Amino acid sequence: MKGIILAGGTGSRLHPLTLSVSKQLMPVYDKPMIYYPLSTLMYAGIKEILIISTPKDLPLFKELLGDGKNYGCSFSYAAQESPNGLAEAFIIGEEFIGKDKVALILGDNIFYGTGLASLMQSNNDPNGGIIYAYRVNDPQRYGVVEFDEEGKVISIEEKPKAPKSNYVVPGIYFYDSDVVSIAKSIQPSLRGELEITDVNKEYLKRGKLHVSILDRGTAWLDTGTFQALMQASQFVEVLEERQGMIIGSIEVAAYEMGYVSKSQFKELAQPLLKSGYGERLLGILNKEI
Ligand code: DAU
Repeated sequence: MKGIILAGGTGSRLHPLTLSVSKQLMPVYDKPMIYYPLSTLMYAGIKEILIISTPKDLPLFKELLGDGKNYGCSFSYAAQESPNGLAEAFIIGEEFIGKDKVALILGDNIFYGTGLASLMQSNNDPNGGIIYAYRVNDPQRYGVVEFDEEGKVISIEEKPKAPKSNYVVPGIYFYDSDVVSIAKSIQPSLRGELEITDVNKEYLKRGKLHVSILDRGTAWLDTGTFQALMQASQFVEVLEERQGMIIGSIEVAAYEMGYVSKSQFKELAQPLLKSGYGERLLGILNKEI
């Protein structure tokens, strides 16, 4: 399975922070935001990853992440000329996807929870589409899923004024290769975007949409406002400093998934020692004993 990270957009809800630097490069405690979704894909067992961003920001992502070889992965890059919607990722990524299955994750979505990696790994061979539903207090800001009494999905609506449930769709999606033709067939919404919700509705119509509930033990963090961004940093800081663990580290993901050897992992940590981040990486090795 291949993976796409969509890391474009205008970042206007975080201006002036994001006037000159991409939102997905903003710090979330000790690492750039994109590390979190990237490590989520890596933990899902995905090694071939396309990073999509604006023509202006793409060189910065390339500088940060390179071709992925250091992490035992392959990273490639493509530009989205303007923010035409999440589903455009599959049109931009058509050649990259080819006949394979593909996961899309939004570059500003942070997930954390035990068991999450194995849940995502179990979903990486979809026949149709696999999405998640997560309970929130403010569903009107998201794609909202309505279930019947037996837990079957009846509808999905994008940012409804009167949400039919509190279950919303977080920014990680797994699809078969039909997603490219589906993305090409949908029309822009009233806000002028190719909506991922319309892709999901098409899979639902075909009887091929699977929705799993992400349990409450999973954290799905928002980074969309100054306050949410600060809270995400604090969440990571508390867990990392208290438990001596690392969340969202692409180096640790590469090592734990067996994409790099122990000596390659140590090489990754070496240039990062001065900040303390590298020390924390090496600390992972000590905990194995
Ligand atoms: O976060 C999950 C939600 O993401 C879903 O529940 C919604 O169904 C889905 O439509 C989307 O909602 P938003 O409207 O809040 O997405 P937003 O426009 O904020 O874009 C999400 C990220 O994707 C953001 O970091 C910017 C980036 N993006 C967005 C668009 C529209 C792009 O890279 N390109 C784009 O064309």
